Amino acid sequence: MEKKISEDLIFLPDFKEFEYEKWSTLLESRVGITVPKEREAFLQTKIWSRMRELRVKSFSDYWLIVKNGITGNIEWNELLDRLTVHETSFFRHMPSYDLVKNDFTKVLNKKRKCHYKIWSVSCSTGEEPYSLAMMLQSLKAKFKKEGIYYGVTATDVSKPALSIANNAFYSELKLDNINSEYYQYINRINNNIFAIKTEIKKRVAFGVFNLFKINEMPTIKFDIIFCQNVLIYFSKEKKIEILESLKRFLHVGGILVLSPTDIGQWKSENMTRIDYRRTLAYKLN
Ligand SMILES: C[S@@+](CC[C@H](N)C(=O)[O-])C[C@H]1O[C@@H](n2cnc3c(N)ncnc32)[C@H](O)[C@@H]1O
Repeated sequence: MEKKISEDLIFLPDFKEFEYEKWSTLLESRVGITVPKEREAFLQTKIWSRMRELRVKSFSDYWLIVKNGITGNIEWNELLDRLTVHETSFFRHMPSYDLVKNDFTKVLNKKRKCHYKIWSVSCSTGEEPYSLAMMLQSLKAKFKKEGIYYGVTATDVSKPALSIANNAFYSELKLDNINSEYYQYINRINNNIFAIKTEIKKRVAFGVFNLFKINEMPTIKFDIIFCQNVLIYFSKEKKIEILESLKRFLHVGGILVLSPTDIGQWKSENMTRIDYRRTLAYKLN
C-alpha cells in the first residue's frame, strides 16, 4: 500500500531569518563554506530534503538532532554531503592535467630515482585522482624507468563522496571524458558501469580532510597539489589563508595547480606564477 505522506512533509517549512543565520554560521564555522544570503533558498531546500527523509517537520527540531553529541555528528556528515557540491568528471580541466603531465615527463627524463607525490585536495567521488593516476601510470609505462614511483593522496570533507571514490565504480556515461589510451586501466562491468582497475586503485590513497582545518594537519610534502573547484566556496580571506597554508605542503620546486575560475590573481612570497596555457599554477621557489 502506498505510504501517505503527511501534509507537514509536503510543504517547505518557513525558514526564518534567524534560521538562515544559525545554519549558515554552523556551516561556515565547521567547514568554512560561506552561503551568501542570495543562496538562502539553496540552504533551505537542501536541509529540508534531508529532514523529509527523517520525517522531521521543523528546522528547530532538526537543529537539535544535528547538535546532539555523537549521533549529531553522524547526522552532520549526512547533511554536509547534501550541502557540498560534488560535481566532477574525469580529466575535468585538461590544461591542468597537461601541466602535470609535462612536469612528470621532466622528472622521468631527468631523475634516476624519485617518489613523485600528488595531492588531490578535494577529490569528490574520485574521478580527479584516478585521472591523475591513469595519466602518470601511462607515462611511466612509456619511459620504462625503474626507480621512479608515484602516488596520489586524495582527500575530501565528504565521507559519502569518499566512499564512492573508494568503490571506484562509475557510469558508462563518464567514459566520454576519458581518452581511449587510458581504457586499458578500466574494466567494463556491464553496459552501464565500469570500474577502475586495481593497478590504478592501489596508487591512490583516500582520506577525510577538512580544508578549513588545514593548520591542524601534519606536514607531508608533495610535488603537485591539485586543488580544483573548491576554493570557490570560501570567503576571499579564507581562500588566501588556505592558499598560504598549502605552501607548507609543497617541496621546493613543487607546483600548486588551481582552477582558473577559483581565484583571481594571488601574490605570495616564494611562489612564482607558471606561464602554462590556460592554467593557474604556482611554483614554490
Ligand atoms: C565541485 S567538487 C570538485 C571536485 C574536483 N576537485 C573537481 O574539480 O572536479 C568540490 C568538492 O570540495 C569538497 N569540499 C567542500 N568543502 C570542503 C572542505 N572544507 N574541505 C575539503 N573538501 C571540501 C566537496 O565535498 C566536494 O567534493
